[in-house]
Amino acid sequence: MAGSPRTDPGTGRAHPGRRVLAAAAVAAALVAVPGVPASAGPLHTPRPVAPPRLVPAPASLRTLPGVSFTLTRHTRIVARPGSGTAGSYLAGILRRSTGYPLPLTASGGSRDVISLGLSGREKGEGYRLDVTRASVRLEAGSAAGLFRGVQTLRQLLPPAVESPTVRPGPWTMPGVAVQDSPRFAWRGTMLDVSRHFFTVKQVERYIDLAALYKINTLHLHLSDDQGWRIAINGWPRLAAYGGSTAVGGGKGGYYTQADYKAIVRYAADRYMNVVPEIDGPSHTNAALASYAKLNCDDKAPPLYTGTEVGFSSWCIAKPVTYELLNDVLGQLAEMTPGPYLHIGGDEAHSTTPADYATFIGKLGPIVAKHGKKMVGWNEIGAGKIAPGSVAQYWNTATGSEDGTQTARDAVAQGAKVVMSPANRAYLDMKYDESTPLGQDWAGLIEVRDSYEWDPAALVDGVAEKDVLGVEAPLWSETLVTNDDIDYMAFPRLPSIAEIGWTPQSQRTWSDFRVRLAAQGPRWSVMPVHYYRSPQVPWPTS
Ligand code: ACM
Repeated sequence: MAGSPRTDPGTGRAHPGRRVLAAAAVAAALVAVPGVPASAGPLHTPRPVAPPRLVPAPASLRTLPGVSFTLTRHTRIVARPGSGTAGSYLAGILRRSTGYPLPLTASGGSRDVISLGLSGREKGEGYRLDVTRASVRLEAGSAAGLFRGVQTLRQLLPPAVESPTVRPGPWTMPGVAVQDSPRFAWRGTMLDVSRHFFTVKQVERYIDLAALYKINTLHLHLSDDQGWRIAINGWPRLAAYGGSTAVGGGKGGYYTQADYKAIVRYAADRYMNVVPEIDGPSHTNAALASYAKLNCDDKAPPLYTGTEVGFSSWCIAKPVTYELLNDVLGQLAEMTPGPYLHIGGDEAHSTTPADYATFIGKLGPIVAKHGKKMVGWNEIGAGKIAPGSVAQYWNTATGSEDGTQTARDAVAQGAKVVMSPANRAYLDMKYDESTPLGQDWAGLIEVRDSYEWDPAALVDGVAEKDVLGVEAPLWSETLVTNDDIDYMAFPRLPSIAEIGWTPQSQRTWSDFRVRLAAQGPRWSVMPVHYYRSPQVPWPTS
Protein backbone atom coordinates (compact mmCIF):
# COMPACT_ATOMS: atom_id res chain seq x y z
CA MET A 1 0.00 0.00 0.00
CA ALA A 2 2.92 2.32 0.53
CA GLY A 3 3.02 3.48 -3.09
CA SER A 4 5.22 6.25 -4.33
CA PRO A 5 5.10 9.06 -1.83
CA ARG A 6 5.46 11.97 -4.24
CA THR A 7 2.80 11.01 -6.77
CA ASP A 8 -0.87 11.66 -6.57
CA PRO A 9 -3.00 8.97 -8.15
CA GLY A 10 -5.98 11.21 -7.43
CA THR A 11 -5.13 13.43 -10.38
CA GLY A 12 -8.16 14.12 -12.49
CA ARG A 13 -10.53 12.20 -10.23
CA ALA A 14 -13.96 13.39 -9.19
CA HIS A 15 -14.26 16.25 -6.75
CA PRO A 16 -13.07 17.31 -4.21
CA GLY A 17 -9.78 16.30 -5.85
CA ARG A 18 -10.69 18.34 -8.89
CA ARG A 19 -11.20 21.46 -6.83
CA VAL A 20 -7.83 21.03 -5.18
CA LEU A 21 -6.22 20.67 -8.59
CA ALA A 22 -7.94 23.80 -9.83
CA ALA A 23 -6.62 25.67 -6.82
CA ALA A 24 -3.12 24.32 -7.42
CA ALA A 25 -3.26 25.67 -10.97
CA VAL A 26 -4.24 29.08 -9.64
CA ALA A 27 -1.37 29.02 -7.16
CA ALA A 28 1.07 28.07 -9.91
CA ALA A 29 -0.22 30.93 -12.06
CA LEU A 30 0.31 33.36 -9.21
CA VAL A 31 3.91 32.29 -8.72
CA ALA A 32 4.95 32.32 -12.37
CA VAL A 33 3.91 35.73 -13.63
CA PRO A 34 4.55 36.15 -17.38
CA GLY A 35 6.68 39.16 -18.26
CA VAL A 36 8.05 39.69 -14.79
CA PRO A 37 11.73 38.74 -14.61
CA ALA A 38 12.75 36.51 -11.75
CA SER A 39 15.07 39.26 -10.53
CA ALA A 40 12.27 41.79 -10.20
CA GLY A 41 12.35 41.47 -6.41
CA PRO A 42 9.73 40.96 -3.76
CA LEU A 43 7.67 44.08 -4.62
CA HIS A 44 6.85 42.63 -8.01
CA THR A 45 6.45 39.03 -7.05
CA PRO A 46 2.92 38.11 -6.13
CA ARG A 47 2.80 36.06 -3.01
CA PRO A 48 2.39 32.36 -3.56
CA VAL A 49 -0.78 31.09 -1.94
CA ALA A 50 -1.06 27.43 -1.11
CA PRO A 51 -4.25 25.85 -2.43
CA PRO A 52 -6.78 24.91 0.23
CA ARG A 53 -5.98 21.50 1.64
CA LEU A 54 -8.60 21.04 4.29
CA VAL A 55 -9.27 18.17 6.69
CA PRO A 56 -12.07 17.34 6.98
CA ALA A 57 -13.00 18.24 3.41
CA PRO A 58 -15.90 20.69 3.42
CA ALA A 59 -19.22 19.75 1.86
CA SER A 60 -18.75 22.54 -0.67
CA LEU A 61 -15.61 24.50 -1.55
CA ARG A 62 -15.19 26.96 -4.39
CA THR A 63 -11.83 28.62 -4.97
CA LEU A 64 -11.76 32.19 -6.31
CA PRO A 65 -9.00 32.39 -8.93
CA GLY A 66 -6.54 35.21 -8.34
CA VAL A 67 -8.16 36.25 -5.06
CA SER A 68 -6.42 36.16 -1.71
CA PHE A 69 -6.60 37.82 1.70
CA THR A 70 -3.50 38.77 3.67
CA LEU A 71 -3.53 39.27 7.40
CA THR A 72 -1.62 42.39 8.50
CA ARG A 73 -0.85 44.16 11.76
CA HIS A 74 -3.91 46.31 11.05
CA THR A 75 -6.36 43.44 10.65
CA ARG A 76 -9.17 43.34 13.19
CA ILE A 77 -11.35 40.47 14.35
CA VAL A 78 -15.02 41.35 14.69
CA ALA A 79 -17.02 38.76 16.63
CA ARG A 80 -20.65 39.83 16.69
CA PRO A 81 -22.95 38.99 19.61
CA GLY A 82 -23.68 35.26 19.79
CA SER A 83 -20.22 34.25 18.55
CA GLY A 84 -19.35 32.58 21.85
CA THR A 85 -15.67 31.67 22.14
CA ALA A 86 -15.03 31.42 18.38
CA GLY A 87 -13.53 34.91 18.02
CA SER A 88 -11.29 34.77 21.07
CA TYR A 89 -10.10 31.26 20.17
CA LEU A 90 -9.15 32.43 16.70
CA ALA A 91 -7.47 35.58 18.05
CA GLY A 92 -5.46 33.48 20.51
CA ILE A 93 -4.06 31.28 17.76
CA LEU A 94 -3.36 34.08 15.29
CA ARG A 95 -1.78 36.47 17.81
CA ARG A 96 0.84 34.06 19.12
CA SER A 97 2.19 33.10 15.70
CA THR A 98 1.75 36.39 13.78
CA GLY A 99 2.61 38.71 16.65
CA TYR A 100 -0.09 41.08 15.35
CA PRO A 101 -2.42 42.77 17.85
CA LEU A 102 -5.60 41.61 16.05
CA PRO A 103 -8.00 43.51 18.32
CA LEU A 104 -11.25 41.69 19.00
CA THR A 105 -14.40 43.80 18.90
CA ALA A 106 -18.15 43.16 18.75
CA SER A 107 -18.74 45.41 15.75
CA GLY A 108 -16.68 47.13 13.08
CA GLY A 109 -16.04 47.88 9.42
CA SER A 110 -15.89 45.61 6.42
CA ARG A 111 -12.29 45.98 5.18
CA ASP A 112 -9.21 44.29 6.58
CA VAL A 113 -11.37 42.36 9.01
CA ILE A 114 -12.16 38.80 9.89
CA SER A 115 -15.80 38.98 10.85
CA LEU A 116 -17.77 36.30 12.68
CA GLY A 117 -21.51 36.39 13.20
CA LEU A 118 -24.71 34.39 13.39
CA SER A 119 -26.96 33.95 10.41
CA GLY A 120 -30.32 32.27 10.04
CA ARG A 121 -29.17 30.63 6.81
CA GLU A 122 -26.97 28.00 8.46
CA LYS A 123 -28.13 25.17 10.73
CA GLY A 124 -26.56 23.27 13.62
CA GLU A 125 -22.79 23.16 13.24
CA GLY A 126 -22.99 24.36 9.64
CA TYR A 127 -21.16 27.49 8.55
CA ARG A 128 -20.23 29.63 5.54
CA LEU A 129 -16.78 31.05 5.04
CA ASP A 130 -16.00 33.65 2.39
CA VAL A 131 -12.43 34.80 1.85
CA THR A 132 -12.20 37.79 -0.48
CA ARG A 133 -9.54 40.47 -1.09
CA ALA A 134 -11.09 42.83 1.44
CA SER A 135 -12.19 40.55 4.24
CA VAL A 136 -12.86 37.14 5.67
CA ARG A 137 -16.47 36.54 6.57
CA LEU A 138 -17.63 33.61 8.69
CA GLU A 139 -21.33 33.02 9.34
CA ALA A 140 -23.07 30.20 11.16
CA GLY A 141 -26.35 29.34 12.80
CA SER A 142 -24.67 28.80 16.17
CA ALA A 143 -21.49 29.59 18.06
CA ALA A 144 -20.54 25.92 17.59
CA GLY A 145 -20.81 26.38 13.84
CA LEU A 146 -18.59 29.46 14.01
CA PHE A 147 -16.05 27.48 16.02
CA ARG A 148 -16.02 24.74 13.36
CA GLY A 149 -15.57 27.40 10.69
CA VAL A 150 -12.63 28.86 12.59
CA GLN A 151 -10.87 25.50 12.19
CA THR A 152 -11.32 25.73 8.43
CA LEU A 153 -10.01 29.30 8.46
CA ARG A 154 -6.88 28.19 10.36
CA GLN A 155 -6.13 25.56 7.75
CA LEU A 156 -6.28 28.15 4.95
CA LEU A 157 -3.34 29.99 6.52
CA PRO A 158 0.27 28.78 6.18
CA PRO A 159 1.39 26.01 8.58
CA ALA A 160 3.46 28.47 10.64
CA VAL A 161 0.19 29.91 11.94
CA GLU A 162 0.15 26.95 14.34
CA SER A 163 3.45 28.00 15.91
CA PRO A 164 3.38 28.77 19.64
CA THR A 165 5.89 31.61 19.00
CA VAL A 166 6.03 34.51 16.54
CA ARG A 167 7.00 33.61 12.97
CA PRO A 168 7.51 35.73 9.85
CA GLY A 169 4.60 36.01 7.41
CA PRO A 170 3.21 36.60 4.94
CA TRP A 171 -0.12 35.40 6.29
CA THR A 172 -2.02 34.91 3.08
CA MET A 173 -5.14 32.82 2.52
CA PRO A 174 -6.56 31.76 -0.85
CA GLY A 175 -9.90 33.24 -1.85
CA VAL A 176 -12.63 30.69 -1.21
CA ALA A 177 -16.34 30.30 -0.72
CA VAL A 178 -17.02 27.42 1.66
CA GLN A 179 -20.44 26.14 2.64
CA ASP A 180 -20.22 23.31 5.08
CA SER A 181 -22.04 21.13 7.59
CA PRO A 182 -21.36 17.72 9.14
CA ARG A 183 -22.64 14.33 8.05
CA PHE A 184 -22.95 13.02 11.63
CA ALA A 185 -23.83 14.64 14.97
CA TRP A 186 -21.35 12.57 17.05
CA ARG A 187 -17.73 12.89 15.99
CA GLY A 188 -15.74 11.66 18.90
CA THR A 189 -12.53 10.45 20.32
CA MET A 190 -12.02 8.48 23.52
CA LEU A 191 -9.10 8.85 25.85
CA ASP A 192 -8.39 5.94 28.22
CA VAL A 193 -7.18 7.73 31.35
CA SER A 194 -7.47 4.54 33.38
CA ARG A 195 -4.73 2.24 32.06
CA HIS A 196 -2.43 5.24 32.25
CA PHE A 197 -3.48 8.47 33.85
CA PHE A 198 -3.22 11.73 31.92
CA THR A 199 -3.19 15.10 33.67
CA VAL A 200 -5.75 17.85 33.09
CA LYS A 201 -3.16 19.69 30.98
CA GLN A 202 -2.57 16.60 28.83
CA VAL A 203 -6.30 16.13 28.30
CA GLU A 204 -6.69 19.81 27.39
CA ARG A 205 -3.88 19.53 24.86
CA TYR A 206 -5.60 16.54 23.28
CA ILE A 207 -8.90 18.45 23.20
CA ASP A 208 -7.27 21.27 21.22
CA LEU A 209 -5.70 18.86 18.74
CA ALA A 210 -9.01 17.09 18.21
CA ALA A 211 -10.90 20.40 17.91
CA LEU A 212 -8.77 21.32 14.90
CA TYR A 213 -10.45 18.44 13.04
CA LYS A 214 -13.98 19.38 14.18
CA ILE A 215 -14.25 16.58 16.75
CA ASN A 216 -17.18 17.45 19.03
CA THR A 217 -17.25 14.61 21.57
CA LEU A 218 -14.64 13.64 24.16
CA HIS A 219 -15.34 10.26 25.74
CA LEU A 220 -13.31 9.80 28.93
CA HIS A 221 -12.77 6.19 30.00
CA LEU A 222 -12.62 7.02 33.72
CA SER A 223 -12.50 3.58 35.30
CA ASP A 224 -11.08 0.16 34.57
CA ASP A 225 -9.32 -2.72 36.30
CA GLN A 226 -6.09 -0.75 36.58
CA GLY A 227 -7.36 2.59 37.87
CA TRP A 228 -10.35 4.60 39.10
CA ARG A 229 -9.77 8.20 38.00
CA ILE A 230 -12.55 10.40 39.40
CA ALA A 231 -13.08 11.45 43.03
CA ILE A 232 -16.56 10.49 44.25
CA ASN A 233 -18.04 12.06 47.37
CA GLY A 234 -18.87 9.42 49.98
CA TRP A 235 -16.56 6.85 48.38
CA PRO A 236 -13.09 8.31 48.93
CA ARG A 237 -11.13 5.08 48.48
CA LEU A 238 -12.23 4.70 44.85
CA ALA A 239 -9.85 7.45 43.75
CA ALA A 240 -7.39 7.52 46.66
CA TYR A 241 -6.70 3.77 46.56
CA GLY A 242 -8.31 2.57 43.31
CA GLY A 243 -6.55 5.38 41.47
CA SER A 244 -3.15 4.80 43.04
CA THR A 245 -1.59 2.72 40.28
CA ALA A 246 -1.64 2.02 36.53
CA VAL A 247 -0.59 -0.56 33.95
CA GLY A 248 2.98 -1.53 34.74
CA GLY A 249 2.67 -0.37 38.35
CA GLY A 250 3.15 3.39 37.96
CA LYS A 251 1.73 5.85 40.45
CA GLY A 252 -1.59 6.45 38.69
CA GLY A 253 -3.61 9.52 39.63
CA TYR A 254 -7.15 10.82 39.57
CA TYR A 255 -9.19 13.93 38.86
CA THR A 256 -10.71 15.85 41.73
CA GLN A 257 -14.23 17.00 40.93
CA ALA A 258 -12.77 20.47 40.36
CA ASP A 259 -10.34 18.95 37.83
CA TYR A 260 -13.16 17.16 36.04
CA LYS A 261 -15.23 20.35 35.90
CA ALA A 262 -12.21 22.18 34.46
CA ILE A 263 -11.93 19.60 31.68
CA VAL A 264 -15.66 19.85 30.97
CA ARG A 265 -15.42 23.65 30.80
CA TYR A 266 -12.34 23.57 28.59
CA ALA A 267 -14.11 21.16 26.22
CA ALA A 268 -17.32 23.23 26.27
CA ASP A 269 -15.34 26.32 25.25
CA ARG A 270 -14.41 24.28 22.16
CA TYR A 271 -18.03 23.11 21.67
CA MET A 272 -17.07 19.60 22.65
CA ASN A 273 -19.29 17.37 24.79
CA VAL A 274 -17.68 15.25 27.46
CA VAL A 275 -19.08 11.71 27.79
CA PRO A 276 -17.87 10.15 31.05
CA GLU A 277 -17.58 6.36 31.17
CA ILE A 278 -17.75 4.20 34.29
CA ASP A 279 -17.14 0.73 32.92
CA GLY A 280 -19.05 -2.29 34.26
CA PRO A 281 -19.95 -4.98 35.11
CA SER A 282 -16.40 -6.01 34.11
CA HIS A 283 -13.32 -3.77 34.04
CA THR A 284 -14.08 -3.03 37.70
CA ASN A 285 -11.12 -4.38 39.65
CA ALA A 286 -9.90 -0.97 40.85
CA ALA A 287 -13.27 -0.31 42.52
CA LEU A 288 -13.59 -3.85 43.87
CA ALA A 289 -10.09 -3.50 45.37
CA SER A 290 -11.12 -0.26 47.08
CA TYR A 291 -14.13 -1.58 49.01
CA ALA A 292 -14.44 -5.18 50.23
CA LYS A 293 -18.22 -4.80 50.54
CA LEU A 294 -18.58 -4.42 46.76
CA ASN A 295 -17.43 -8.02 46.32
CA CYS A 296 -19.81 -11.00 46.51
CA ASP A 297 -17.40 -12.70 48.97
CA ASP A 298 -16.72 -9.47 50.90
CA LYS A 299 -13.02 -9.83 50.09
CA ALA A 300 -11.20 -7.05 48.26
CA PRO A 301 -8.89 -8.29 45.49
CA PRO A 302 -5.45 -6.70 45.16
CA LEU A 303 -4.87 -3.78 42.83
CA TYR A 304 -4.13 -4.88 39.27
CA THR A 305 -1.41 -3.57 36.97
CA GLY A 306 -1.47 -6.10 34.11
CA THR A 307 -3.34 -5.92 30.80
CA GLU A 308 -5.73 -8.88 30.88
CA VAL A 309 -9.44 -8.15 30.41
CA GLY A 310 -12.73 -9.74 31.46
CA PHE A 311 -11.72 -11.19 34.84
CA SER A 312 -13.57 -8.77 37.14
CA SER A 313 -17.29 -8.29 37.77
CA TRP A 314 -19.52 -6.14 39.90
CA CYS A 315 -21.52 -8.26 42.36
CA ILE A 316 -24.82 -8.19 40.45
CA ALA A 317 -26.97 -9.43 43.36
CA LYS A 318 -25.79 -6.90 45.97
CA PRO A 319 -27.78 -3.67 46.48
CA VAL A 320 -24.56 -1.85 47.41
CA THR A 321 -23.44 -2.17 43.77
CA TYR A 322 -26.35 0.02 42.69
CA GLU A 323 -25.98 2.38 45.68
CA LEU A 324 -22.43 3.00 44.50
CA LEU A 325 -23.38 3.40 40.84
CA ASN A 326 -26.26 5.70 41.71
CA ASP A 327 -23.85 7.96 43.61
CA VAL A 328 -21.17 7.83 40.91
CA LEU A 329 -23.50 8.38 37.96
CA GLY A 330 -25.48 11.02 39.87
CA GLN A 331 -22.36 13.05 40.66
CA LEU A 332 -21.06 12.71 37.10
CA ALA A 333 -24.46 13.72 35.70
CA GLU A 334 -24.40 16.87 37.81
CA MET A 335 -20.95 17.84 36.54
CA THR A 336 -21.59 16.94 32.91
CA PRO A 337 -23.78 19.29 30.84
CA GLY A 338 -23.94 16.92 27.85
CA PRO A 339 -26.81 14.43 27.49
CA TYR A 340 -24.89 11.16 27.91
CA LEU A 341 -23.48 8.81 30.56
CA HIS A 342 -21.46 5.82 29.31
CA ILE A 343 -21.86 2.68 31.42
CA GLY A 344 -19.33 0.48 29.62
CA GLY A 345 -20.75 -3.02 29.30
CA ASP A 346 -17.89 -4.56 27.29
CA GLU A 347 -16.10 -7.86 27.76
CA ALA A 348 -18.13 -9.10 30.75
CA HIS A 349 -16.55 -12.53 30.56
CA SER A 350 -16.91 -13.15 34.30
CA THR A 351 -20.59 -12.23 34.51
CA THR A 352 -23.26 -14.76 33.50
CA PRO A 353 -25.50 -13.70 30.59
CA ALA A 354 -28.47 -13.59 32.99
CA ASP A 355 -26.57 -11.39 35.45
CA TYR A 356 -25.41 -9.20 32.57
CA ALA A 357 -28.99 -8.64 31.44
CA THR A 358 -30.02 -7.89 35.03
CA PHE A 359 -27.23 -5.35 35.33
CA ILE A 360 -28.05 -3.51 32.10
CA GLY A 361 -31.74 -3.51 33.06
CA LYS A 362 -30.92 -1.89 36.41
CA LEU A 363 -28.52 0.72 35.01
CA GLY A 364 -30.96 2.16 32.48
CA PRO A 365 -33.35 3.62 35.09
CA ILE A 366 -30.43 4.97 37.16
CA VAL A 367 -29.06 6.83 34.14
CA ALA A 368 -32.56 8.11 33.26
CA LYS A 369 -33.20 9.23 36.84
CA HIS A 370 -30.20 11.52 36.56
CA GLY A 371 -31.56 13.03 33.36
CA LYS A 372 -29.17 11.39 30.91
CA LYS A 373 -29.22 8.95 28.03
CA MET A 374 -27.32 5.69 28.37
CA VAL A 375 -24.35 4.90 26.19
CA GLY A 376 -22.62 1.52 26.29
CA TRP A 377 -20.37 -0.67 24.16
CA ASN A 378 -22.35 -2.76 21.66
CA GLU A 379 -22.83 -5.64 24.15
CA ILE A 380 -25.54 -3.61 25.92
CA GLY A 381 -27.83 -4.57 23.03
CA ALA A 382 -28.11 -7.99 24.71
CA GLY A 383 -29.91 -6.33 27.62
CA LYS A 384 -33.05 -4.24 27.83
CA ILE A 385 -32.26 -0.65 26.91
CA ALA A 386 -34.42 2.44 26.47
CA PRO A 387 -35.10 3.98 23.06
CA GLY A 388 -32.65 6.83 22.56
CA SER A 389 -29.80 4.87 24.15
CA VAL A 390 -26.54 4.65 22.24
CA ALA A 391 -24.60 1.48 21.44
CA GLN A 392 -20.94 1.93 20.56
CA TYR A 393 -20.01 -0.74 18.02
CA TRP A 394 -16.46 -1.96 18.53
CA ASN A 395 -15.91 -5.71 18.50
CA THR A 396 -14.98 -6.81 15.06
CA ALA A 397 -12.27 -9.23 16.04
CA THR A 398 -12.79 -11.04 19.32
CA GLY A 399 -13.36 -14.61 18.22
CA SER A 400 -16.74 -16.05 19.16
CA GLU A 401 -18.37 -12.70 19.96
CA ASP A 402 -20.28 -11.02 17.18
CA GLY A 403 -20.57 -7.32 17.84
CA THR A 404 -22.75 -6.84 14.81
CA GLN A 405 -25.59 -8.86 16.38
CA THR A 406 -25.73 -6.84 19.60
CA ALA A 407 -25.50 -3.63 17.56
CA ARG A 408 -28.57 -4.77 15.58
CA ASP A 409 -30.29 -5.79 18.84
CA ALA A 410 -29.68 -2.28 20.16
CA VAL A 411 -31.11 -0.68 17.02
CA ALA A 412 -34.17 -2.95 17.25
CA GLN A 413 -34.79 -1.41 20.69
CA GLY A 414 -34.65 2.13 19.33
CA ALA A 415 -31.00 2.86 20.03
CA LYS A 416 -28.57 4.70 17.78
CA VAL A 417 -25.09 3.43 17.01
CA VAL A 418 -21.72 5.13 17.27
CA MET A 419 -19.25 3.37 15.01
CA SER A 420 -15.86 2.55 16.54
CA PRO A 421 -14.87 -0.63 14.70
CA ALA A 422 -11.71 -1.87 16.42
CA ASN A 423 -10.07 -2.88 13.13
CA ARG A 424 -10.54 0.63 11.64
CA ALA A 425 -11.07 3.22 14.35
CA TYR A 426 -8.95 2.04 17.32
CA LEU A 427 -6.09 4.50 17.55
CA ASP A 428 -4.08 2.15 19.76
CA MET A 429 -3.66 -0.52 17.09
CA LYS A 430 -0.20 -0.62 15.52
CA TYR A 431 0.21 0.84 12.03
CA ASP A 432 2.46 -2.04 10.95
CA GLU A 433 4.58 -4.73 12.59
CA SER A 434 7.33 -2.23 13.37
CA THR A 435 5.18 0.29 15.29
CA PRO A 436 6.88 0.54 18.70
CA LEU A 437 3.66 1.34 20.61
CA GLY A 438 0.17 -0.08 20.67
CA GLN A 439 -1.43 -3.49 20.25
CA ASP A 440 -2.45 -5.69 17.32
CA TRP A 441 -5.31 -7.91 18.52
CA ALA A 442 -7.75 -6.19 16.13
CA GLY A 443 -5.22 -6.06 13.31
CA LEU A 444 -2.71 -3.57 11.96
CA ILE A 445 -4.29 -0.26 10.92
CA GLU A 446 -2.35 1.82 8.41
CA VAL A 447 -3.71 5.27 7.65
CA ARG A 448 -5.55 4.11 4.55
CA ASP A 449 -7.32 1.39 6.55
CA SER A 450 -8.43 3.98 9.07
CA TYR A 451 -9.92 6.09 6.27
CA GLU A 452 -11.53 3.77 3.73
CA TRP A 453 -14.79 2.68 5.33
CA ASP A 454 -18.34 3.90 5.50
CA PRO A 455 -20.15 3.93 8.86
CA ALA A 456 -23.46 3.32 7.07
CA ALA A 457 -22.18 0.23 5.23
CA LEU A 458 -20.32 -1.52 8.02
CA VAL A 459 -22.93 -3.55 9.90
CA ASP A 460 -25.75 -5.35 8.09
CA GLY A 461 -29.03 -3.94 9.34
CA VAL A 462 -27.51 -0.71 10.68
CA ALA A 463 -28.19 2.01 8.11
CA GLU A 464 -27.31 5.70 7.86
CA LYS A 465 -30.42 6.68 9.85
CA ASP A 466 -29.33 4.41 12.72
CA VAL A 467 -25.83 5.84 12.92
CA LEU A 468 -25.34 8.71 15.32
CA GLY A 469 -21.71 9.08 14.36
CA VAL A 470 -18.17 7.82 14.70
CA GLU A 471 -15.59 7.72 17.43
CA ALA A 472 -11.88 6.92 17.56
CA PRO A 473 -10.93 5.35 20.90
CA LEU A 474 -7.38 5.70 22.19
CA TRP A 475 -6.70 2.92 24.73
CA SER A 476 -3.62 3.57 26.81
CA GLU A 477 -2.13 0.25 27.93
CA THR A 478 1.09 1.15 26.07
CA LEU A 479 0.83 4.96 26.11
CA VAL A 480 2.34 7.25 28.71
CA THR A 481 3.50 10.56 27.23
CA ASN A 482 2.06 13.26 24.96
CA ASP A 483 4.41 11.98 22.26
CA ASP A 484 2.87 8.51 22.63
CA ILE A 485 -0.65 9.97 22.29
CA ASP A 486 0.38 12.03 19.27
CA TYR A 487 2.06 9.15 17.49
CA MET A 488 -0.98 6.89 17.64
CA ALA A 489 -3.66 9.56 17.10
CA PHE A 490 -1.97 11.39 14.22
CA PRO A 491 -2.67 10.95 11.42
CA ARG A 492 -5.51 8.49 12.11
CA LEU A 493 -7.73 10.75 14.23
CA PRO A 494 -8.12 13.11 11.23
CA SER A 495 -9.24 10.07 9.16
CA ILE A 496 -12.06 9.34 11.59
CA ALA A 497 -12.87 13.04 11.89
CA GLU A 498 -13.33 13.30 8.12
CA ILE A 499 -15.45 10.13 8.01
CA GLY A 500 -17.72 11.79 10.57
CA TRP A 501 -17.88 15.14 8.82
CA THR A 502 -17.58 14.84 5.05
CA PRO A 503 -20.28 13.35 2.78
CA GLN A 504 -19.34 9.80 1.78
CA SER A 505 -19.66 10.62 -1.93
CA GLN A 506 -16.94 13.27 -1.59
CA ARG A 507 -14.33 11.16 0.12
CA THR A 508 -11.55 9.36 -1.72
CA TRP A 509 -8.26 8.12 -0.32
CA SER A 510 -6.29 9.54 -3.23
CA ASP A 511 -7.56 13.02 -2.43
CA PHE A 512 -7.43 12.64 1.35
CA ARG A 513 -3.78 11.58 1.43
CA VAL A 514 -2.77 14.80 -0.31
CA ARG A 515 -4.81 16.97 2.05
CA LEU A 516 -3.52 14.95 5.01
CA ALA A 517 0.07 15.51 3.83
CA ALA A 518 -0.51 19.26 4.16
CA GLN A 519 -1.21 18.76 7.88
CA GLY A 520 2.33 17.45 8.47
CA PRO A 521 4.05 20.85 8.47
CA ARG A 522 1.32 22.15 10.81
CA TRP A 523 1.98 19.34 13.27
CA SER A 524 5.72 19.94 13.00
CA VAL A 525 5.42 23.55 14.17
CA MET A 526 2.99 22.87 17.03
CA PRO A 527 4.72 20.41 17.61
CA VAL A 528 2.81 17.13 17.31
CA HIS A 529 4.90 13.95 17.24
CA TYR A 530 3.02 12.29 14.37
CA TYR A 531 3.60 9.04 12.52
CA ARG A 532 5.08 9.71 9.07
CA SER A 533 3.16 7.01 7.27
CA PRO A 534 4.74 5.94 3.96
CA GLN A 535 1.22 6.02 2.49
CA VAL A 536 1.08 9.82 2.75
CA PRO A 537 3.09 12.16 0.46
CA TRP A 538 4.45 14.40 3.22
CA PRO A 539 6.30 17.48 1.99
CA THR A 540 10.05 16.96 2.29
CA SER A 541 10.83 20.37 3.84
C1 ACM B 1 -13.30 -2.53 24.20
O1 ACM B 1 -12.37 -2.38 23.39
N1 ACM B 1 -13.22 -3.45 25.14
C2 ACM B 1 -14.48 -1.70 24.15
